[in-house]
Amino acid sequence: MTLSVDDIVAGCRTAMTEHTPPLAVRDVLDEIVADPAALECALGPVELGGISTVYNADDLTILRVAWTPGMAINPHEHRMWAVIGMYGGTEDNAFYRRAAHGLEAAGGKEVETGDVLVLGDDVIHSVANSHTDFAVALHVYGGDFFTVERSEWDFETYDERPRDFERTRRIFEDANARWRGQG
Ligand SMILES: [Fe+2]
Repeated sequence: MTLSVDDIVAGCRTAMTEHTPPLAVRDVLDEIVADPAALECALGPVELGGISTVYNADDLTILRVAWTPGMAINPHEHRMWAVIGMYGGTEDNAFYRRAAHGLEAAGGKEVETGDVLVLGDDVIHSVANSHTDFAVALHVYGGDFFTVERSEWDFETYDERPRDFERTRRIFEDANARWRGQG
């Protein structure tokens, strides 16, 4: 069966009407990531790391996120629930708690191809790809990912600052340049 972007959006939209949307979205993603080839067909191949918008509305955002080998993104929060469905490679997630000064580490989880991870709206995490393949996932958020105000933290000092998409874009760009240089 052919999967389309419309199918992905429709599946998530229906899940939003369920009693517990993030769990319903998890079930939708479980099914979708079980066939990575169909998903890649629908979204196109990954050539470089980056964030592509599949769908964006006030109450729902769907992104395709490809983490370049060797890259890491600093700790950040979303202030909305998120469901991450891996369909290529492995995401290394590290979790944090707010502390008196900045953050303290609170465990981690490797999310592998076929895994689906649900994050509550107060989760703070950083993501790395320490592997040799792109880590590719469908990220579904219960809100408008691009406009909600939220924080990120410096990787080294754990200083809190407003989320900075321009900085994130540069992290992807630098990682892609390094990856190309190795090719
Ligand atoms: Fe995140």
